[in-house]
Amino acid sequence: MSTATCCSSGPRFGDRLRFSVQVAPEVLPVPVPFLCLQPLVENAIKHGMRGHDGKGEVRVVVRDAGPEAHISVEDDGMGMEPERARQVLDDDPRNQGNGIGLANVDVRMRQIYGEAYGLVVETAVGAGTKVRLRVPKARHSSL
Ligand SMILES: Nc1ncnc2c1ncn2[C@@H]1O[C@H](COP(=O)(O)OP(=O)(O)O)[C@@H](O)[C@H]1O
Ligand SMILES: [Mg+2]
Repeated sequence: MSTATCCSSGPRFGDRLRFSVQVAPEVLPVPVPFLCLQPLVENAIKHGMRGHDGKGEVRVVVRDAGPEAHISVEDDGMGMEPERARQVLDDDPRNQGNGIGLANVDVRMRQIYGEAYGLVVETAVGAGTKVRLRVPKARHSSL
């Protein structure tokens, strides 16, 4: 697995944020639906860092899994009640405020690839958050 590590996270976070992206070479050509990862990374930074002394680590990992690429966006931040994560995914995406949120990405993934391809959120209070998604390698016409 090749690793690209981004060390400079800009003036806003400076050295408080460690951000790394790890991508298996086999899955570099796999197209990921437009705007599906950015909201997850934004959440990891925005919500993950909160209550964490403003320090934290965000990791994006893309693994090769045969016919699919498996992506995880993980932070070591405040996490949340698993029940809260379920509620967030159940929210009507149209009720979300500005931007594209978790429920919206979940809906898009299921619309594009089918019901089995929704987001999986692993979290607990104080234990960080890991959001997983699976992307079939076969090209899809709506991307
Ligand atoms: N990585 C995370 N760590 C902790 N809480 C999170 C994380 N991602 C999402 N959340 C929780 O889920 C809620 C919904 O996220 P989202 O749909 O992206 O909306 P927004 O970011 O605009 O609040 C957030 O307000 C936050 O409470
Ligand atoms: Mg958000």
